[in-house]
Amino acid sequence: MRDKIVAGNWKMNNDLAQTEDLLSNIKKLYKEKEGVRVIVAPSFTNLHHAFESLRELPVDVAAQNMNENSDGAYTGEVSGQMLTSIGIKTVILGHSERRAIYKETDELLAKKVNAALENDMEVIFCCGEELGERKTEKHFEVVKRQLEKGLFHVPEANWNKVVIAYEPVWAIGTGETASPEQAQEMHAFIRKTVAEKYGNEVANDVAILYGGSVKPGNAQEIFAKEDVDGGLIGGASLKAEDFMAIVEAF
Ligand code: 13P
Repeated sequence: MRDKIVAGNWKMNNDLAQTEDLLSNIKKLYKEKEGVRVIVAPSFTNLHHAFESLRELPVDVAAQNMNENSDGAYTGEVSGQMLTSIGIKTVILGHSERRAIYKETDELLAKKVNAALENDMEVIFCCGEELGERKTEKHFEVVKRQLEKGLFHVPEANWNKVVIAYEPVWAIGTGETASPEQAQEMHAFIRKTVAEKYGNEVANDVAILYGGSVKPGNAQEIFAKEDVDGGLIGGASLKAEDFMAIVEAF
């Protein structure tokens, strides 16, 4: 049985005081929801604080990125070892903002995935097409390439550490959501693509999250789809009430 997950990607938002505020509101509103795993991903500077603060709750804390090397002269970078040493066991990799703004390629992401797994970390691997690619009906091809080049070198034995997040770029931060049918269609395609490579057992066990303008008002109909196992939430995860309402939507 695969996990159901609601993960909040806080992106480059919240200084320490704002982080404390959001964490305290999450703690106030948090209600355990049977079978649903909750994850929050603050920025690097607030990871340690968030981890310590959320110790009392079954809420996991994830990083939004990490470097592909183990250590050395990489000014400004953060390694997997640094993350695990403060208790962080999950990392988001391949977010479209990292791909587009910081030019992270499929090849680089494959190395980052390896570095995370070598540190025994769980990877939330993001994929998704841009608007032009959907309009020209290349979306399946693009997502398949992202999976094949960034993720499909991972040995089958490590797939229990893999979560996939489908985030159509045109739906991120735009208020425009993929319809539940569009999400289901792509999630089913992703699961089929994983099955072709690794077999049905791996494909049935991998959680596939949807991301892109998920809000309390639309979460339920998206999560109701068979192959949608949860959400990766941006804007709405910055408000504890909205984030917890999305968790409730399961
Ligand atoms: P929004 O929910 O703000 O559209 O962001 C989605 C996202 O990028 C999560 O990683």
